[in-house]
Amino acid sequence: MSQKTVFVGSDHAGYALKQPLLARLKAAFPNIDFQDCGTHSSDSVDYPNFAEKVAGQVAAMQDGRGILICGTGLGMCIAANKIKGIRATSSWNIESARLSREHNDSNIICLGARLIPEDLAFELVKEWLTTRFLGDRHSRRLDQIRKLEEKA
Ligand code: RB5
Repeated sequence: MSQKTVFVGSDHAGYALKQPLLARLKAAFPNIDFQDCGTHSSDSVDYPNFAEKVAGQVAAMQDGRGILICGTGLGMCIAANKIKGIRATSSWNIESARLSREHNDSNIICLGARLIPEDLAFELVKEWLTTRFLGDRHSRRLDQIRKLEEKA
């Protein structure tokens, strides 16, 4: 992967995973600029604010990417997908991470810190960062999703 920026955010439930995960990702992908968008402690915060922060940055960039972590990965995913241009997906195993890129051109991966261990989270993000979108029939379907966005 060439030079790229990846925006990373969590709520309090995701904070304990975000910190070690970020450190491992920075070491494994020195060409990627990982930007920590908070939260910066385990004090209670509201996940939609961090989903908006990360998704807004991702949507504003050509080929931007983001990582969002909350307790389940689900609330972040719902909130991020409200931002135009975002294709946020939740991953729990390697196949879901791979297919989210190959079929859905996922631009934000959502992780559940209360549901998956750190080692698996790291493997999921690695798979997601290094897997290419397959295009072809999948592009047609993404165009259909874009049209749904226009109707909203
Ligand atoms: C916070 O308690 C929790 O609800 C949040 O992290 C997330 O799991 C929501 O989907």
